Amino acid sequence: MELIPMTIYTVLFVVAIVLPLLGKKPFTYYVSKGAYPKAISQSDVFLRINNIISFIWAGIFATAFVLVQIRYSPYSADNMLISNAMAFLPQFIIGIPVSIYFPVWYLKQPNSKIRFDSMKDAFSAMPYGINKEFAQGVDVVVQFELSGDEAGESYIIIKDQKCTHTIGRHENPTATIQADSKLWLDITNGDVDGTYAFLNKQYKLSGDGSIMLNFEKIFDTRAKFETIANRPQDYDYKTISSKQIKNIVVFDGGARAKKFSKTTLMVDKFVAGAKSAGANVEEFKLSKLDIHRCDGCYMCWTKTPGQCVHKDIMTELREKYRKADLVVFASPLYIFNVTGTMKTFMDRLLPIIQPYMLLDEKDGHISHPDRFPQHGEQGFVVFSASGFPDIDNNFDGLKGMYRAWDSHNENSNMMGEFFLPAAEVIVQPVYKSRREIVQNACFDAGVQAVKEGKIDYKYMSAVSNPQVNNKTFQNQANLFWATLDGKSPYTKEVPKI
Ligand SMILES: Cc1cc2nc3c(=O)[nH]c(=O)nc-3n(C[C@H](O)[C@H](O)[C@H](O)COP(=O)(O)O)c2cc1C
Repeated sequence: MELIPMTIYTVLFVVAIVLPLLGKKPFTYYVSKGAYPKAISQSDVFLRINNIISFIWAGIFATAFVLVQIRYSPYSADNMLISNAMAFLPQFIIGIPVSIYFPVWYLKQPNSKIRFDSMKDAFSAMPYGINKEFAQGVDVVVQFELSGDEAGESYIIIKDQKCTHTIGRHENPTATIQADSKLWLDITNGDVDGTYAFLNKQYKLSGDGSIMLNFEKIFDTRAKFETIANRPQDYDYKTISSKQIKNIVVFDGGARAKKFSKTTLMVDKFVAGAKSAGANVEEFKLSKLDIHRCDGCYMCWTKTPGQCVHKDIMTELREKYRKADLVVFASPLYIFNVTGTMKTFMDRLLPIIQPYMLLDEKDGHISHPDRFPQHGEQGFVVFSASGFPDIDNNFDGLKGMYRAWDSHNENSNMMGEFFLPAAEVIVQPVYKSRREIVQNACFDAGVQAVKEGKIDYKYMSAVSNPQVNNKTFQNQANLFWATLDGKSPYTKEVPKI
Protein backbone atom coordinates (compact mmCIF):
# COMPACT_ATOMS: atom_id res chain seq x y z
CA MET A 1 0.00 0.00 0.00
CA GLU A 2 2.95 2.34 0.70
CA LEU A 3 3.96 1.83 -2.88
CA ILE A 4 1.78 4.61 -4.26
CA PRO A 5 3.00 7.39 -1.92
CA MET A 6 6.59 6.10 -2.25
CA THR A 7 6.35 6.40 -6.04
CA ILE A 8 4.80 9.89 -5.77
CA TYR A 9 7.58 11.09 -3.40
CA THR A 10 10.25 9.57 -5.64
CA VAL A 11 8.87 11.42 -8.67
CA LEU A 12 8.58 14.68 -6.71
CA PHE A 13 12.13 14.27 -5.34
CA VAL A 14 13.55 13.68 -8.83
CA VAL A 15 11.68 16.66 -10.28
CA ALA A 16 12.78 18.91 -7.40
CA ILE A 17 16.45 17.98 -7.59
CA VAL A 18 17.06 17.29 -11.27
CA LEU A 19 15.69 20.46 -12.89
CA PRO A 20 17.96 22.94 -11.02
CA LEU A 21 20.92 20.53 -11.37
CA LEU A 22 20.39 20.52 -15.14
CA GLY A 23 20.27 24.31 -15.15
CA LYS A 24 16.49 24.30 -15.83
CA LYS A 25 13.99 26.39 -13.93
CA PRO A 26 12.71 24.49 -10.88
CA PHE A 27 9.01 23.70 -10.39
CA THR A 28 8.73 26.28 -7.56
CA TYR A 29 9.65 28.92 -10.16
CA TYR A 30 6.52 28.14 -12.19
CA VAL A 31 4.40 28.13 -9.03
CA SER A 32 5.65 31.51 -7.75
CA LYS A 33 6.37 33.53 -10.91
CA GLY A 34 2.72 34.48 -11.38
CA ALA A 35 2.81 36.52 -8.18
CA TYR A 36 5.60 38.85 -9.40
CA PRO A 37 6.21 41.15 -12.39
CA LYS A 38 8.60 39.94 -15.08
CA ALA A 39 11.29 42.37 -13.88
CA ILE A 40 11.54 40.30 -10.71
CA SER A 41 10.62 36.81 -11.94
CA GLN A 42 13.20 36.97 -14.72
CA SER A 43 16.00 38.18 -12.46
CA ASP A 44 18.95 36.00 -11.42
CA VAL A 45 18.09 36.57 -7.78
CA PHE A 46 14.56 35.18 -8.25
CA LEU A 47 15.94 32.05 -9.96
CA ARG A 48 18.56 31.59 -7.23
CA ILE A 49 15.87 31.79 -4.52
CA ASN A 50 13.73 29.23 -6.35
CA ASN A 51 16.66 26.86 -6.86
CA ILE A 52 17.40 26.87 -3.15
CA ILE A 53 13.74 26.35 -2.27
CA SER A 54 13.58 23.50 -4.76
CA PHE A 55 16.55 21.76 -3.11
CA ILE A 56 14.87 22.17 0.26
CA TRP A 57 11.70 20.56 -1.16
CA ALA A 58 13.81 17.71 -2.55
CA GLY A 59 15.04 17.07 1.01
CA ILE A 60 11.49 17.20 2.31
CA PHE A 61 10.27 14.67 -0.31
CA ALA A 62 13.20 12.36 0.51
CA THR A 63 12.25 12.54 4.20
CA ALA A 64 8.60 11.87 3.31
CA PHE A 65 9.74 8.85 1.26
CA VAL A 66 11.34 7.38 4.43
CA LEU A 67 8.57 8.42 6.85
CA VAL A 68 5.81 6.88 4.76
CA GLN A 69 7.45 3.43 5.07
CA ILE A 70 7.74 3.35 8.87
CA ARG A 71 5.24 1.11 10.69
CA TYR A 72 3.60 3.22 13.39
CA SER A 73 0.79 0.76 14.26
CA PRO A 74 0.26 -3.02 14.00
CA TYR A 75 -3.13 -2.38 12.34
CA SER A 76 -2.62 -1.74 8.68
CA ALA A 77 -5.58 0.69 8.30
CA ASP A 78 -4.29 2.84 11.20
CA ASN A 79 -0.74 2.54 9.98
CA MET A 80 -1.56 3.84 6.50
CA LEU A 81 -3.28 6.88 7.99
CA ILE A 82 -0.44 7.64 10.44
CA SER A 83 2.38 7.02 7.95
CA ASN A 84 0.81 9.34 5.38
CA ALA A 85 0.21 11.98 8.05
CA MET A 86 3.85 11.67 9.23
CA ALA A 87 5.07 12.07 5.65
CA PHE A 88 2.93 15.21 5.25
CA LEU A 89 4.21 16.79 8.46
CA PRO A 90 7.59 18.12 7.15
CA GLN A 91 5.79 19.54 4.12
CA PHE A 92 3.58 21.62 6.41
CA ILE A 93 6.02 22.59 9.10
CA ILE A 94 9.11 23.10 6.91
CA GLY A 95 8.07 23.35 3.24
CA ILE A 96 5.33 25.97 3.46
CA PRO A 97 7.09 28.38 5.92
CA VAL A 98 10.36 28.09 3.93
CA SER A 99 8.54 28.91 0.67
CA ILE A 100 6.98 32.01 2.26
CA TYR A 101 9.76 33.39 4.47
CA PHE A 102 12.96 32.31 2.74
CA PRO A 103 12.57 34.78 -0.20
CA VAL A 104 11.93 37.62 2.28
CA TRP A 105 15.06 36.68 4.25
CA TYR A 106 17.16 36.12 1.12
CA LEU A 107 16.27 39.50 -0.35
CA LYS A 108 17.81 41.13 2.75
CA GLN A 109 21.20 39.51 2.13
CA PRO A 110 24.06 41.61 0.71
CA ASN A 111 24.34 39.73 -2.63
CA SER A 112 20.64 39.82 -3.45
CA LYS A 113 20.27 43.13 -5.29
CA ILE A 114 18.10 42.88 -8.41
CA ARG A 115 19.38 44.79 -11.44
CA PHE A 116 16.90 46.26 -13.90
CA ASP A 117 17.26 46.62 -17.68
CA SER A 118 14.73 49.44 -17.99
CA MET A 119 12.85 51.94 -15.87
CA LYS A 120 9.66 50.14 -16.90
CA ASP A 121 11.01 47.03 -15.15
CA ALA A 122 12.20 49.03 -12.16
CA PHE A 123 8.82 50.73 -11.68
CA SER A 124 7.00 47.40 -12.00
CA ALA A 125 9.21 45.94 -9.24
CA MET A 126 8.87 48.87 -6.81
CA PRO A 127 5.67 47.63 -5.12
CA TYR A 128 7.48 44.35 -4.30
CA GLY A 129 10.73 45.86 -3.11
CA ILE A 130 9.49 47.96 -0.20
CA ASN A 131 11.69 47.93 2.91
CA LYS A 132 8.98 48.19 5.56
CA GLU A 133 11.30 49.55 8.24
CA PHE A 134 12.25 52.59 6.16
CA ALA A 135 8.75 53.00 4.71
CA GLN A 136 7.20 53.24 8.16
CA GLY A 137 5.22 56.47 8.50
CA VAL A 138 6.04 57.54 4.92
CA ASP A 139 3.10 59.07 3.08
CA VAL A 140 4.27 60.63 -0.19
CA VAL A 141 3.57 60.93 -3.90
CA VAL A 142 6.68 61.12 -6.07
CA GLN A 143 6.04 62.30 -9.62
CA PHE A 144 8.56 61.26 -12.27
CA GLU A 145 9.04 63.29 -15.43
CA LEU A 146 11.51 61.18 -17.36
CA SER A 147 13.15 62.19 -20.61
CA GLY A 148 15.35 60.29 -23.10
CA ASP A 149 14.88 56.65 -24.18
CA GLU A 150 12.02 55.98 -21.80
CA ALA A 151 10.44 59.43 -21.73
CA GLY A 152 7.14 59.62 -19.92
CA GLU A 153 5.23 60.68 -16.83
CA SER A 154 4.29 58.39 -13.99
CA TYR A 155 4.11 58.56 -10.23
CA ILE A 156 4.51 56.34 -7.22
CA ILE A 157 2.54 56.55 -4.01
CA ILE A 158 4.19 55.27 -0.85
CA LYS A 159 1.71 54.91 1.99
CA ASP A 160 0.98 52.39 4.76
CA GLN A 161 4.30 50.65 3.98
CA LYS A 162 3.04 49.86 0.47
CA CYS A 163 3.91 51.29 -2.94
CA THR A 164 1.84 51.69 -6.09
CA HIS A 165 2.99 52.89 -9.49
CA THR A 166 0.66 54.66 -11.93
CA ILE A 167 1.26 56.00 -15.42
CA GLY A 168 0.35 59.68 -15.79
CA ARG A 169 0.37 62.84 -13.73
CA HIS A 170 -0.66 63.26 -10.09
CA GLU A 171 -2.43 66.53 -9.31
CA ASN A 172 -0.66 67.10 -6.00
CA PRO A 173 2.71 65.32 -5.78
CA THR A 174 4.89 65.68 -2.68
CA ALA A 175 8.04 65.78 -4.81
CA THR A 176 8.73 65.88 -8.54
CA ILE A 177 11.79 64.40 -10.19
CA GLN A 178 12.82 65.52 -13.66
CA ALA A 179 15.55 63.24 -14.94
CA ASP A 180 16.91 61.41 -17.92
CA SER A 181 15.52 57.86 -17.81
CA LYS A 182 18.96 56.30 -18.31
CA LEU A 183 20.38 58.33 -15.43
CA TRP A 184 17.53 57.33 -13.15
CA LEU A 185 18.02 53.68 -14.14
CA ASP A 186 21.71 53.97 -13.21
CA ILE A 187 20.75 55.52 -9.87
CA THR A 188 18.18 52.75 -9.29
CA ASN A 189 20.76 50.06 -10.06
CA GLY A 190 23.26 51.75 -7.71
CA ASP A 191 25.72 52.57 -10.53
CA VAL A 192 25.41 56.33 -9.95
CA ASP A 193 25.17 58.04 -6.54
CA GLY A 194 21.82 59.87 -6.43
CA THR A 195 23.01 62.62 -4.08
CA TYR A 196 26.11 63.25 -6.15
CA ALA A 197 24.07 63.41 -9.38
CA PHE A 198 21.72 65.87 -7.74
CA LEU A 199 24.47 68.12 -6.44
CA ASN A 200 25.97 68.09 -9.94
CA LYS A 201 22.60 69.25 -11.26
CA GLN A 202 22.17 66.10 -13.35
CA TYR A 203 18.50 65.96 -12.42
CA LYS A 204 15.94 68.29 -10.86
CA LEU A 205 13.99 67.77 -7.68
CA SER A 206 11.16 70.07 -6.69
CA GLY A 207 8.61 70.10 -3.88
CA ASP A 208 9.40 68.50 -0.52
CA GLY A 209 12.55 66.51 -1.21
CA SER A 210 12.88 65.01 2.31
CA ILE A 211 11.82 61.64 0.94
CA MET A 212 14.97 61.46 -1.20
CA LEU A 213 17.10 61.09 1.93
CA ASN A 214 15.75 57.59 2.40
CA PHE A 215 14.45 56.88 -1.11
CA GLU A 216 17.16 54.40 -1.98
CA LYS A 217 16.67 52.56 1.31
CA ILE A 218 12.89 52.42 1.01
CA PHE A 219 13.45 50.33 -2.13
CA ASP A 220 16.41 48.35 -0.85
CA THR A 221 15.18 45.33 1.09
CA ARG A 222 18.75 44.79 2.30
CA ALA A 223 19.07 48.16 4.04
CA LYS A 224 19.18 48.12 7.82
CA PHE A 225 17.94 50.96 9.96
CA GLU A 226 20.93 52.33 11.83
CA THR A 227 21.06 55.68 13.49
CA ILE A 228 22.76 57.12 16.52
CA ALA A 229 20.24 56.35 19.22
CA ASN A 230 18.74 59.01 21.42
CA ARG A 231 21.14 59.81 24.21
CA PRO A 232 20.29 58.75 27.74
CA GLN A 233 20.13 61.59 30.26
CA ASP A 234 23.42 61.97 32.13
CA TYR A 235 22.86 65.18 34.08
CA ASP A 236 20.57 66.42 36.79
CA TYR A 237 19.03 69.52 35.18
CA LYS A 238 17.62 72.04 37.65
CA THR A 239 14.11 73.34 38.18
CA ILE A 240 13.58 76.98 39.18
CA SER A 241 10.69 76.80 41.60
CA SER A 242 11.42 79.89 43.70
CA LYS A 243 10.17 82.41 41.13
CA GLN A 244 8.33 82.84 37.86
CA ILE A 245 10.61 83.17 34.82
CA LYS A 246 9.78 86.56 33.30
CA ASN A 247 13.00 88.07 31.98
CA ILE A 248 15.30 86.18 29.66
CA VAL A 249 18.58 87.41 28.24
CA VAL A 250 20.33 85.71 25.31
CA PHE A 251 24.09 85.99 24.81
CA ASP A 252 24.96 84.77 21.33
CA GLY A 253 28.69 84.11 20.93
CA GLY A 254 28.46 82.94 17.30
CA ALA A 255 30.29 84.56 14.43
CA ARG A 256 27.72 84.04 11.69
CA ALA A 257 24.70 86.12 10.85
CA LYS A 258 21.36 84.76 12.04
CA LYS A 259 20.30 83.30 8.70
CA PHE A 260 23.40 81.09 8.46
CA SER A 261 23.80 80.09 12.09
CA LYS A 262 22.51 76.67 13.12
CA THR A 263 22.90 77.68 16.78
CA THR A 264 20.51 80.56 16.13
CA LEU A 265 18.14 78.18 14.35
CA MET A 266 17.56 76.59 17.77
CA VAL A 267 17.74 79.73 19.89
CA ASP A 268 15.22 81.61 17.75
CA LYS A 269 12.63 78.90 18.35
CA PHE A 270 13.37 78.72 22.07
CA VAL A 271 12.93 82.50 22.28
CA ALA A 272 9.69 82.35 20.26
CA GLY A 273 8.35 79.69 22.64
CA ALA A 274 9.38 81.68 25.71
CA LYS A 275 7.79 84.85 24.33
CA SER A 276 4.56 83.02 23.49
CA ALA A 277 4.46 81.93 27.14
CA GLY A 278 4.73 85.58 28.25
CA ALA A 279 8.46 86.17 28.87
CA ASN A 280 10.43 89.30 27.91
CA VAL A 281 13.53 88.44 25.92
CA GLU A 282 16.57 90.59 25.22
CA GLU A 283 19.26 89.38 22.84
CA PHE A 284 22.92 90.35 22.43
CA LYS A 285 25.16 89.36 19.55
CA LEU A 286 28.52 89.41 21.31
CA SER A 287 30.64 89.49 18.14
CA LYS A 288 29.13 92.89 17.31
CA LEU A 289 30.19 94.32 20.68
CA ASP A 290 33.54 95.59 21.78
CA ILE A 291 34.46 93.35 24.70
CA HIS A 292 37.92 93.59 26.21
CA ARG A 293 39.58 90.38 27.34
CA CYS A 294 40.08 89.70 31.06
CA ASP A 295 43.51 90.79 32.32
CA GLY A 296 43.44 88.46 35.34
CA CYS A 297 44.26 91.34 37.71
CA TYR A 298 41.54 90.30 40.21
CA MET A 299 40.74 93.98 40.86
CA CYS A 300 37.07 92.94 40.63
CA TRP A 301 37.67 90.66 43.61
CA THR A 302 39.98 92.98 45.58
CA LYS A 303 40.27 96.76 45.29
CA THR A 304 36.94 97.38 43.46
CA PRO A 305 34.69 94.39 44.38
CA GLY A 306 32.23 93.67 41.57
CA GLN A 307 33.79 96.29 39.26
CA CYS A 308 36.12 95.49 36.37
CA VAL A 309 39.00 97.74 35.42
CA HIS A 310 37.72 97.75 31.82
CA LYS A 311 34.84 100.16 31.39
CA ASP A 312 33.20 98.64 28.32
CA ILE A 313 29.81 97.17 27.38
CA MET A 314 30.39 94.35 29.89
CA THR A 315 29.34 96.62 32.77
CA GLU A 316 25.86 96.73 31.23
CA LEU A 317 25.87 93.08 30.13
CA ARG A 318 26.80 91.86 33.62
CA GLU A 319 23.85 93.75 35.03
CA LYS A 320 21.54 92.31 32.37
CA TYR A 321 22.99 88.91 33.09
CA ARG A 322 22.47 88.94 36.81
CA LYS A 323 18.99 90.51 36.76
CA ALA A 324 17.61 87.95 34.29
CA ASP A 325 15.58 85.02 35.57
CA LEU A 326 16.94 82.89 32.78
CA VAL A 327 20.15 83.27 30.76
CA VAL A 328 20.71 81.66 27.36
CA PHE A 329 24.32 80.93 26.40
CA ALA A 330 24.48 80.32 22.65
CA SER A 331 27.70 79.38 20.92
CA PRO A 332 28.66 77.23 17.95
CA LEU A 333 31.21 74.55 18.73
CA TYR A 334 34.64 75.88 17.81
CA ILE A 335 37.50 73.46 18.38
CA PHE A 336 35.50 71.46 20.91
CA ASN A 337 34.47 74.44 22.97
CA VAL A 338 32.68 77.80 22.82
CA THR A 339 33.90 80.47 20.40
CA GLY A 340 36.66 82.82 21.54
CA THR A 341 34.06 85.60 21.72
CA MET A 342 31.90 83.61 24.12
CA LYS A 343 34.91 82.59 26.22
CA THR A 344 35.99 86.22 26.59
CA PHE A 345 32.44 87.06 27.65
CA MET A 346 32.40 84.22 30.20
CA ASP A 347 35.77 85.34 31.63
CA ARG A 348 34.44 88.86 32.08
CA LEU A 349 31.56 87.54 34.21
CA LEU A 350 34.02 87.02 37.07
CA PRO A 351 32.95 90.20 38.96
CA ILE A 352 29.47 88.77 39.59
CA ILE A 353 30.87 86.05 41.84
CA GLN A 354 32.78 86.47 45.06
CA PRO A 355 36.25 85.04 45.63
CA TYR A 356 35.27 83.20 48.82
CA MET A 357 34.60 79.50 49.02
CA LEU A 358 31.30 77.91 49.94
CA LEU A 359 31.44 74.34 51.19
CA ASP A 360 28.39 72.14 50.95
CA GLU A 361 28.58 70.18 54.20
CA LYS A 362 26.38 67.44 52.75
CA ASP A 363 28.33 66.50 49.64
CA GLY A 364 31.63 68.27 50.31
CA HIS A 365 31.25 70.29 47.10
CA ILE A 366 32.95 73.70 46.92
CA SER A 367 31.73 76.78 44.98
CA HIS A 368 31.90 80.60 44.85
CA PRO A 369 29.23 82.72 46.58
CA ASP A 370 26.96 84.94 44.51
CA ARG A 371 27.82 88.66 44.77
CA PHE A 372 24.19 89.64 44.16
CA PRO A 373 22.13 87.11 46.15
CA GLN A 374 19.25 89.61 46.33
CA HIS A 375 18.36 88.57 42.73
CA GLY A 376 17.82 85.02 43.92
CA GLU A 377 17.98 81.82 41.94
CA GLN A 378 18.76 82.04 38.25
CA GLY A 379 18.43 79.45 35.50
CA PHE A 380 20.58 79.09 32.44
CA VAL A 381 20.31 77.12 29.20
CA VAL A 382 23.08 76.25 26.73
CA PHE A 383 22.74 75.97 22.95
CA SER A 384 25.49 74.78 20.63
CA ALA A 385 25.73 73.46 17.06
CA SER A 386 28.56 71.34 15.68
CA GLY A 387 29.77 70.05 12.33
CA PHE A 388 30.51 66.48 13.47
CA PRO A 389 27.54 64.17 14.04
CA ASP A 390 28.69 63.03 17.47
CA ILE A 391 28.20 64.49 20.93
CA ASP A 392 30.70 62.58 23.07
CA ASN A 393 34.31 63.67 22.64
CA ASN A 394 33.05 66.59 20.62
CA PHE A 395 30.96 68.69 23.01
CA ASP A 396 32.83 67.50 26.15
CA GLY A 397 34.85 70.71 26.54
CA LEU A 398 31.89 73.05 26.11
CA LYS A 399 29.65 70.83 28.21
CA GLY A 400 32.27 70.60 30.95
CA MET A 401 32.61 74.37 31.14
CA TYR A 402 28.90 75.03 31.59
CA ARG A 403 28.39 72.10 33.95
CA ALA A 404 31.19 73.51 36.09
CA TRP A 405 29.55 76.96 35.87
CA ASP A 406 26.42 75.29 37.24
CA SER A 407 28.15 73.48 40.08
CA HIS A 408 30.70 76.13 41.10
CA ASN A 409 28.44 79.22 41.27
CA GLU A 410 25.88 79.75 43.95
CA ASN A 411 22.45 80.52 42.40
CA SER A 412 23.43 79.54 38.83
CA ASN A 413 21.29 76.59 37.75
CA MET A 414 21.61 74.71 34.51
CA MET A 415 18.11 73.95 33.25
CA GLY A 416 19.07 72.43 29.93
CA GLU A 417 21.73 71.80 27.28
CA PHE A 418 20.87 71.67 23.57
CA PHE A 419 23.55 70.17 21.38
CA LEU A 420 22.85 70.01 17.66
CA PRO A 421 25.31 67.64 15.95
CA ALA A 422 25.69 67.36 12.15
CA ALA A 423 24.29 70.88 12.12
CA GLU A 424 25.49 72.09 8.74
CA VAL A 425 23.30 69.74 6.73
CA ILE A 426 20.14 70.44 8.68
CA VAL A 427 19.07 73.34 6.47
CA GLN A 428 19.09 71.11 3.40
CA PRO A 429 15.65 70.26 1.96
CA VAL A 430 16.13 66.54 2.57
CA TYR A 431 16.45 67.18 6.30
CA LYS A 432 13.15 69.01 6.52
CA SER A 433 11.64 66.56 9.00
CA ARG A 434 14.71 66.62 11.27
CA ARG A 435 14.70 70.43 11.17
CA GLU A 436 11.07 70.43 12.23
CA ILE A 437 11.76 68.05 15.10
CA VAL A 438 14.60 70.29 16.32
CA GLN A 439 12.67 73.53 15.95
CA ASN A 440 9.53 72.15 17.61
CA ALA A 441 11.58 70.75 20.50
CA CYS A 442 13.26 74.13 21.06
CA PHE A 443 9.97 76.01 20.86
CA ASP A 444 8.27 73.64 23.33
CA ALA A 445 11.29 73.84 25.64
CA GLY A 446 10.99 77.67 25.64
CA VAL A 447 7.32 77.44 26.56
CA GLN A 448 7.95 74.91 29.32
CA ALA A 449 10.92 76.81 30.77
CA VAL A 450 8.75 79.90 31.29
CA LYS A 451 5.62 78.14 32.43
CA GLU A 452 7.12 75.44 34.65
CA GLY A 453 10.66 76.60 35.42
CA LYS A 454 12.08 73.38 34.01
CA ILE A 455 12.86 71.69 30.69
CA ASP A 456 12.09 68.04 30.01
CA TYR A 457 15.02 66.00 28.81
CA LYS A 458 13.03 64.72 25.83
CA TYR A 459 13.49 68.11 24.12
CA MET A 460 17.28 68.00 24.50
CA SER A 461 17.33 64.40 23.33
CA ALA A 462 15.28 65.23 20.21
CA VAL A 463 17.80 67.92 19.26
CA SER A 464 20.88 65.77 19.87
CA ASN A 465 19.80 62.88 17.65
CA PRO A 466 21.35 63.50 14.20
CA GLN A 467 18.85 61.01 12.67
CA VAL A 468 21.45 59.81 10.22
CA ASN A 469 24.12 57.13 10.52
CA ASN A 470 27.78 58.06 10.25
CA LYS A 471 28.24 56.45 6.81
CA THR A 472 25.37 58.39 5.22
CA PHE A 473 26.51 61.54 7.00
CA GLN A 474 30.06 61.06 5.69
CA ASN A 475 28.83 60.64 2.09
CA GLN A 476 26.56 63.64 2.20
CA ALA A 477 29.01 65.91 4.01
CA ASN A 478 31.85 65.02 1.64
CA LEU A 479 29.74 65.54 -1.48
CA PHE A 480 28.47 68.82 -0.10
CA TRP A 481 31.93 70.18 0.70
CA ALA A 482 33.34 68.87 -2.60
CA THR A 483 30.90 71.08 -4.50
CA LEU A 484 32.21 74.14 -2.65
CA ASP A 485 35.90 73.24 -2.60
CA GLY A 486 37.93 76.09 -4.03
CA LYS A 487 34.76 77.86 -5.14
CA SER A 488 32.52 80.21 -3.24
CA PRO A 489 32.41 80.98 0.49
CA TYR A 490 29.93 78.83 2.40
CA THR A 491 27.78 81.78 3.33
CA LYS A 492 27.14 82.78 -0.29
CA GLU A 493 26.03 79.77 -2.26
CA VAL A 494 24.92 76.58 -0.58
CA PRO A 495 24.13 73.59 -2.79
CA LYS A 496 20.85 71.99 -1.83
CA ILE A 497 20.79 68.28 -1.07
C1 LIG B 1 36.93 77.57 13.78
C2 LIG B 1 35.95 76.46 13.72
C3 LIG B 1 36.12 75.38 14.57
C4 LIG B 1 35.23 74.32 14.57
N1 LIG B 1 35.41 73.28 15.43
C5 LIG B 1 34.53 72.25 15.44
C6 LIG B 1 34.68 71.19 16.36
O1 LIG B 1 35.58 71.14 17.18
N2 LIG B 1 33.77 70.18 16.31
C7 LIG B 1 32.73 70.17 15.42
O2 LIG B 1 31.94 69.22 15.41
N3 LIG B 1 32.54 71.19 14.56
C8 LIG B 1 33.41 72.24 14.56
N4 LIG B 1 33.23 73.28 13.70
C9 LIG B 1 32.01 73.30 12.85
C10 LIG B 1 30.92 74.20 13.46
O3 LIG B 1 30.65 73.82 14.79
C11 LIG B 1 29.65 74.11 12.64
O4 LIG B 1 29.93 74.69 11.38
C12 LIG B 1 28.46 74.80 13.27
O5 LIG B 1 27.34 74.61 12.46
C13 LIG B 1 28.68 76.29 13.43
O6 LIG B 1 27.59 76.83 14.14
P1 LIG B 1 26.79 78.10 13.57
O7 LIG B 1 26.06 77.59 12.34
O8 LIG B 1 25.84 78.45 14.65
O9 LIG B 1 27.76 79.14 13.26
C14 LIG B 1 34.11 74.36 13.68
C15 LIG B 1 33.93 75.45 12.82
C16 LIG B 1 34.85 76.49 12.84
C17 LIG B 1 34.63 77.67 11.90
